[in-house]
Amino acid sequence: MSEDKTLANWNGVEMPLEEVRVSVLDRAFLFGDAVYEVIRLHAGVPFLFGDHMQRLERNLAKMQLTVDVARLTSRLHQTLSHSGVKDGNIYIQVTRGEAPRTHRFPVPAPVPNELIYVKRLTSDRFADARRDGAKVITVPDLRWKRCDIKSVNLLANCLAAQQAAEAGCDEAILVSEDGTLTEGTQTSLFGVQDGAILTAPLESNVLPGITRGLVVKLAGIAAIPMVERGIPLSALSDLDELFLTGTTADILPVTLVDGRPIGNGQVGPVTRRLVETFHEYLQSTLSELSN
Ligand code: PDD
Repeated sequence: MSEDKTLANWNGVEMPLEEVRVSVLDRAFLFGDAVYEVIRLHAGVPFLFGDHMQRLERNLAKMQLTVDVARLTSRLHQTLSHSGVKDGNIYIQVTRGEAPRTHRFPVPAPVPNELIYVKRLTSDRFADARRDGAKVITVPDLRWKRCDIKSVNLLANCLAAQQAAEAGCDEAILVSEDGTLTEGTQTSLFGVQDGAILTAPLESNVLPGITRGLVVKLAGIAAIPMVERGIPLSALSDLDELFLTGTTADILPVTLVDGRPIGNGQVGPVTRRLVETFHEYLQSTLSELSN
């Protein structure tokens, strides 16, 4: 596989990603009837792999999709090893498969289409923001009511991300109808107030982020109090710090929201401490796995 080609595994067959072809009758194309995962690859190690695969299994069950996850996992390891990629992302998508267009699930059930690909990290769009603090905008959360499912229905997220890009910002934070901040278009959201970390509880209006889960654990290790409570948009000015987390973002400090600084407008001490703890955790995971 040449350096610039991305290796895919399409239903068990390896090929360059751009050579994968799928029918227009695939239900992901017609209805967005599919779930996905994105996993970060560090030094050849899929980070937080077990957590991601467990979330995928939960999402498949929520969608009533029957998939052999052990087989999917072994395909993933094989393609990862054949790709030779050490630093990058793994993308997994499972669709309900191909069938004549009917809203209800087709009978008999079609064979799910399973896509895996391993992409080398060539650029990191969050690199500057991770160091200096991100600029974000707030936009109405226009998504459906089952954001706990990691489905490929991401149109509202894409529109909000585009609005952020056009405003010269790194991410958009979504605001629910009751005025509470839910999460970013591809990140979970945390505030810091009086030394405690605040984040929205895991209800159906947010994705149970894998990085979010790690941050909750790291806060425990660093003895930083954590409160699961949504942050009202009107309370942004009371926060000392704000940060976002995600597989591709890691921990992203936010210093400016809608043009107004958070706290003193600098990356704050609690966020810094968590970033340090995150890197220590990552290094210890990598060295444990290489021993
Ligand atoms: N997005 N919230 C939303 C809406 C997301 O799409 C994501 C991840 C997260 C963070 O979750 P995690 O820590 O498990 O990556 C929160 C992925 C990276 C994406 O769509 O590319």
